[in-house]
Amino acid sequence: MVKLKSQLTILLVLFISISYAQSKLTLHTEQTETKISKDIYGHFAEHLGHCIYGGIYVGEDSDIPNIRGFRDDVIGALKDMKIPVLRWPGGCFADTYHWKDGIGPRENRPSIVNVNWGNVTEDNSFGTHEFLDFCELIDADAYININVGSGTVQEASEWVEYVTSSNLSPMTELRKKNGREKPWDVKYWGIGNENWGCGGNMTPEYYADLYKQFATFTHGNLYKIACGPSEGDYNWMDVVMQKTARNWGLMQGISLHKYTIQTRNWGDKGNATGFGEKEWFETLHETLDMETLVTRHSTIMDRYDPGKRVGLIVDEWGNWFNVEPGTNPGFLYQQNSLRDALVAGVNLNIFNNHADRVKMANIAQMINVLQSVILTKEDEMVLTPTYYVFKMYSVHQDATLVPANLETGKYSYEGKSVPKVQASSSVKDGVLSVTFCNLDPNNSEQVEIVIPGSEYKTASGQIITGEKLNDYNDFGKTEAVSIKDFSVAKPKGEKLSVNLPSKSVVLIQFKN
Ligand code: AHR
Repeated sequence: MVKLKSQLTILLVLFISISYAQSKLTLHTEQTETKISKDIYGHFAEHLGHCIYGGIYVGEDSDIPNIRGFRDDVIGALKDMKIPVLRWPGGCFADTYHWKDGIGPRENRPSIVNVNWGNVTEDNSFGTHEFLDFCELIDADAYININVGSGTVQEASEWVEYVTSSNLSPMTELRKKNGREKPWDVKYWGIGNENWGCGGNMTPEYYADLYKQFATFTHGNLYKIACGPSEGDYNWMDVVMQKTARNWGLMQGISLHKYTIQTRNWGDKGNATGFGEKEWFETLHETLDMETLVTRHSTIMDRYDPGKRVGLIVDEWGNWFNVEPGTNPGFLYQQNSLRDALVAGVNLNIFNNHADRVKMANIAQMINVLQSVILTKEDEMVLTPTYYVFKMYSVHQDATLVPANLETGKYSYEGKSVPKVQASSSVKDGVLSVTFCNLDPNNSEQVEIVIPGSEYKTASGQIITGEKLNDYNDFGKTEAVSIKDFSVAKPKGEKLSVNLPSKSVVLIQFKN
């Protein structure tokens, strides 16, 4: 009898601890109203290292298969991933860039020094026409960043006219002379980049006045994006919004930059691949700050723009680690591991959940720089774990956010903790999609998904994970991290239970 009692007690404890360990996600499908802008899945390409030259553009005479100088393999991969928008030409490079250097016959274009990124020669062979041609090839909208720091209002005004106007003017005539009859449909224009730093070391008061001047003289039906703060510089957001947002028509968006960086001794940012659980935890812990930043900046924006007319544009985000050994420190070339996949998944879930204010985000940077989706080496190409997250999450593009309530435990490490599970959900064309991140590198997590009133009959899944927490894809090797099928049971009425493997990004889709 005593033995039976103790066995029952053990069973009860086991049952309680299993129930207790479970996370629960309740989806409120009846409360959907906010569209998730596809542009949250945007990218950024700067004249930096081998992002443009070598990554996107190899020139028409290259042995690497290309269309008008643009790599075939890269075009195919980006279209497959569904890239909605691409920001160019910087970054810090933007506030040193004079666009007229990059138009006309290539042999006549001047060479300049790329002072921000390794002092290398920039021959301007990739300019406005090439960028816009490339955007058309990959079916992406263009987002052009204007030079405020070292440019003039006239230069900015003429660039917009050259690209977008269909009227008769010196700029449109010049465009036609350079081979483009019709204007391009470019809606997004950034006015300055990091003008609190590399874009001129300005105060927010000074920048806000300059912004209004530049915005006044850039004509057309444009979506103009002001330079916003770095991370938690709430004063910058407050001043620029206060001085600018109420000038109806002058500002449609304001940017936010936040990199996930841990600077240790002597500028050591940690390695992109050879790391352990400590670095895994620290990176995820830090990247989750995005939630606080987006929430607090949105609250400030609400003060001046309660109707949420102005978009928060997170146009630089991602991991920033040490460059790979032996590479140019000014080129910011880093590998990309399963940890990057988790960072991408977590941030994209945050942006989805704040889709009422976040209207665009651009991971830095698209190819061969920082947290890239693609790495290239001569004629070879690697799709990184981050690439696969963007591909998997493309189901959320222009879908409607499904508000959710997530109850989950903590993954703790050396006295600090992060949520074990993080998620976002949306619905489109009758398909309900939920993306989960299991941040715990050691334990799987049972999640009960509850959809009150659900009539979904089937569910399917996909997963991105690896054997080791620092697995990555490399040139000439079999891919270690990619999208795999993930089998799930049939929903039981309103409920479905899924077991998320440790260190994984998972998509579950419900259909009727
Ligand atoms: O993405 C690299 C650099 O980071 C960008 O040029 C700049 O805007 C930011 O500081």
